[in-house]
Amino acid sequence: MDQAARIKDAANIVDIVGEVVELRRSGSGLMGRCPFHNEKTGSFHVSPDKRRFKCFGCGEGGDVLDFVQKFHGLEFMDALRLLADRYGITLEDQKGDDQYRNRTRLRALYAAMQESYARALPGSSAAAYLIRRGLTLQVAEEFGIGFAADQLPRDVKPQQGDGILAKSGRVLIRSRLTVPIYDSTGNVIAFAGRALSDLQEPKYLNSPQTPIYSKKATLYNMHRAGPAGRRARRIVITEGYFDVIASHRAGIPETVAVCGTAFTPEHAKLLMRQVRQVVLVFDNDEAGRKATEKAATPLLSAGIEIKVCELPEGQDIDDLCRNDADGYRAMVDKAPDFWTHLLHRLGQEYALRSPSGSNKAIERLRPFAAAVSPVERSTLAAELSTLTGASQQLIEAALRGRRAPQSDPSRNSDAECLPAEATLVRLFADEPEALTLLEDARRVFEGLGLRMSSAVSILADHPEVEYGEWEMRCGEAAGDLAALVMAEGPRPSIADGKAALRALERELLRRRRREALAAAQSADDGAALDALIEIASKA
Ligand code: UTP
Ligand code: MN
Repeated sequence: MDQAARIKDAANIVDIVGEVVELRRSGSGLMGRCPFHNEKTGSFHVSPDKRRFKCFGCGEGGDVLDFVQKFHGLEFMDALRLLADRYGITLEDQKGDDQYRNRTRLRALYAAMQESYARALPGSSAAAYLIRRGLTLQVAEEFGIGFAADQLPRDVKPQQGDGILAKSGRVLIRSRLTVPIYDSTGNVIAFAGRALSDLQEPKYLNSPQTPIYSKKATLYNMHRAGPAGRRARRIVITEGYFDVIASHRAGIPETVAVCGTAFTPEHAKLLMRQVRQVVLVFDNDEAGRKATEKAATPLLSAGIEIKVCELPEGQDIDDLCRNDADGYRAMVDKAPDFWTHLLHRLGQEYALRSPSGSNKAIERLRPFAAAVSPVERSTLAAELSTLTGASQQLIEAALRGRRAPQSDPSRNSDAECLPAEATLVRLFADEPEALTLLEDARRVFEGLGLRMSSAVSILADHPEVEYGEWEMRCGEAAGDLAALVMAEGPRPSIADGKAALRALERELLRRRRREALAAAQSADDGAALDALIEIASKA
C-alpha cells in the first residue's frame, strides 16, 4: 500500500469533516451545509462506507485527502502530512518533491524563529512596549508575541527567498516586536514586526510572500477564529493585529484581520468554509469606510451575510476596548446589516429624493446589487423605493443596469423548465431516496420531451454517478442542470417530488388524449373513427 492509501485507510472521514462541518445523520450517511459553496440547506453528503464526501450542489467531492486539501487550501503532500501527524503515521521522505521539501524546511525554520523570538520577550524592549500598551505577558504568550533582536537566533540559517533576509543580506525584522502569523492549520508562516517607538519606521515590517505565505489568502488568527467562529456562527473582521488581540480579550475570540493588504475573494472563500455571517469592524474614517465597501463585494458574492460595526470616529478597537470592552462587544453584537449601513450612508451623502441624488445612489449600489440573488436585489429595490420615492420596478431595472437580462440565473431555470420538472431534478440531485422515482420520471420526461429528459435518463442508467460526472455527461444540458441544482429556494421533499411526478403524469395523459383525438379526427373510416374516439376519451 502506498503512503496516501495507508493514510486514507487510517483516517476517519466523518471525524475529519465533522470537525469543521456540522453533520447530521441522513440515510446511510451524513449530511450538512457545503463548506465550498453558498447554500442555505444541506446538499453536502459524507458516506462513511464509501469514505467519500460529495456535494450535490456544487459538485465538489472526493476522499478525506481531497477534503483536507480543499478545506485548508493545502497542496497534496501538505495535506498528507497533516493527516499523517494526526494519526501518528510517519511519512517517508518524499525524495521527488522538491517544493514540498522546501515548504517543510521553511515551516521548520519559522517554527524555530518563533520559539526563540517568544523566548526573547521577557525583559526585552518589546515587553516594555507591551506593558505600556496595557497588555500582559500572559496575553503576549497566548498570541505568541516575541522580540526580534538585531541578530538572528543562532540556529537559524536562512537562504535568500526564505523571507527572512533582505536582498542586501541584512536581517529584515530587527529590533521589533514580533507577531507570528499562522496558517489555518496552526503553523507559523510569517511574522509582522511592529516598531517599538514612533521614531522607528515603518510602523510594521512584515515577512514577504514565500512558498508558505500568501498574503491574499491569509487572515491573521484564522487558526483560532475558525473553530471559535463555527461556535459563534460569525467571524469578526478587523484591520490590525492589535485589533484582533483587543477583540479577543473583550470576549470575541472569533476575530481575524487582513495582513496589511486589501480584502480579496480568497479571503472570502476562506471565511465561507467556516461561517455564513461576518461583522466588519474597520476604522470609522474615509480609509476604513472605503475598506468596508471594498470587502463587501467578494463577501456578498460568496453568499456571506455582512454586518457593519461602526466605531466612534477617531477610535480603534484597541482604544475602545481599553475603556469599555463590554460596550465594544455590545456594538459588535448589534451591528446593522451591510445594506442598512450602506443606505444610511448614501442618505447622508446624497439627497435621495432628488433625481440626481437617487441616480448617484443607484450607481453606488449597483456593484453590490450585482453580487446578490434576484430576491435580495428586489428587497433592496423596495427599500430604496421608499427612500427615493421612485418605483421599485424602475429601481430594479436601474440596478440591473447594463447587465443583460439573460445573465440572470433565476430566469434561465424558471422560464425554460416546468416547475414540476425542476422539482424532480433538484430532488434527484441531492436526495438518494428519491432515486426510486427515477424510472417513472424517465418515462414521463421522455414522453413529454422535457428539457431535462436526457439528464434524468442518464441518471436512471447510472444512479450511482457522482454529480460532476452526471453534469459532464449531460453535454449541452449541463449548464441548465447546474442552474437548476444550484438555484436558491427551499429544497424539495420526497412528497414534493411525488406530487410533481403526478402532475407530469397528468400532463402526459392529457397530451396522449389530444394526440389520439387528433388522429381519430383525421382518420376517414367512419367505424375506425368511432373506435378511436372511444379510446381517446378513455385514455
Ligand atoms: P494600524 O496602523 O491600525 O496598526 O494598521 P495596528 O495593528 O492597529 O497597530 P497599532 O494598534 O496601531 O499598534 C492596521 C494594519 O495595517 C497594516 C498592518 O497589517 C496593521 O495591522 N500595516 C500598517 C502595515 O502593514 N504596515 C504599516 O506600516 C502600517
Ligand atoms: Mn489600528
